[in-house]
Amino acid sequence: MLSLNRPLNKAKVQKNDEFYTQLSDIEKELKHYKAHFKNKVVLCNCDDPRISNFFHYFSYNFEALGLKKLIATCYKNQNADLFSRNDSEKAIYLEYIGDKNDNNIPDTDEIGIKYLKGDGDFRSQECIELLKQSDIVCTNPPFSLFREYVAQLIEHKKKFLIIGDQNAITYKKIFLLIKKNKIWLGVDNGGTKWFQVPLHYKIKTQARIKVENGVKFFSKGSIMWFTNLDHKKRHQNLILYRKYNPKDYPKYDNYDVIEVSKVADIPVGYNGIMGVPITFLDKYNPEQFEVLGLDDHRIQYPKLAGCNSINGKQIYRRIIIRNKESLNENRTQRNYRRGINKRV
Ligand SMILES: C[S@@+](CC[C@H](N)C(=O)[O-])C[C@H]1O[C@@H](n2cnc3c(N)ncnc32)[C@H](O)[C@@H]1O
Repeated sequence: MLSLNRPLNKAKVQKNDEFYTQLSDIEKELKHYKAHFKNKVVLCNCDDPRISNFFHYFSYNFEALGLKKLIATCYKNQNADLFSRNDSEKAIYLEYIGDKNDNNIPDTDEIGIKYLKGDGDFRSQECIELLKQSDIVCTNPPFSLFREYVAQLIEHKKKFLIIGDQNAITYKKIFLLIKKNKIWLGVDNGGTKWFQVPLHYKIKTQARIKVENGVKFFSKGSIMWFTNLDHKKRHQNLILYRKYNPKDYPKYDNYDVIEVSKVADIPVGYNGIMGVPITFLDKYNPEQFEVLGLDDHRIQYPKLAGCNSINGKQIYRRIIIRNKESLNENRTQRNYRRGINKRV
């Protein structure tokens, strides 16, 4: 069978996009979506199947998830011993349709290796044809092409679960999709994740490097899962306990919007507009809150554009939100009081 999880020591890397997701991180996230995969074709389109843990996860869990087909394409690489050197103008892709000899292992002769005509770029016509055949796309795409990557998935109306950097939330087109509830964050977001890299991969900060059994890892913070697959967490209410008072929640200069510097401090029952850190999206339940915009020119709520200063002091990026439940509650109470007044 294919040697999955081969160390990356021989690979020559030309871009910072070469870092590989650990199986444990994939398992931790994917366990929340099992019901979505039954009878589906999964595409991992930035994944050398000989090294990708995404391919590993889906091929080893093929039967458990009830998949129909697994397709994985690699980029600029044909050589079975080296991977992602990005030094070949051609690439391969693999197709797997499940275990045939009942040993519950994806054996080499059960995995069809096919040659792509081009380099495996996810934007190439032949890769788009594979995308069209698929139902769910799951991978860690190159961060440098994240905008284009998501745009393509949306254009082809695909379901997806992909890894990205927290900053991607603030990309204009990504944010608009989030605001419209077309995409959202997955379950296991933020914190630090360790990614496997080739041994000669240059990392400036020593604390971000670890080598275990000859395999090199580097840590990245603020890594998020982006998806349009529903999961339980996004329907759970954030429990609010802090009471609003004007001293602890100052308003932005010239805007009737309060600053909430920690997501946990969103005041209970407050029905006005609030600015919250972008990590709020990890706790965002669209039944509880409405996302109104971002705090800068990309905002789709023009009256609030540029509202991220207090007494002239600039603050960190903020997402502008409103608590739908408090708003509805207040309306109901107002209507109730009006009803009583009329009767009296
Ligand atoms: C962050 S790495 C992740 C690899 C793998 N998906 C994983 O999580 O282990 C991104 C991968 O995308 C590949 N890549 C870069 N540009 C690409 C493109 N235009 N089309 C397809 N893949 C690309 C890189 O070679 C690299 O292997």
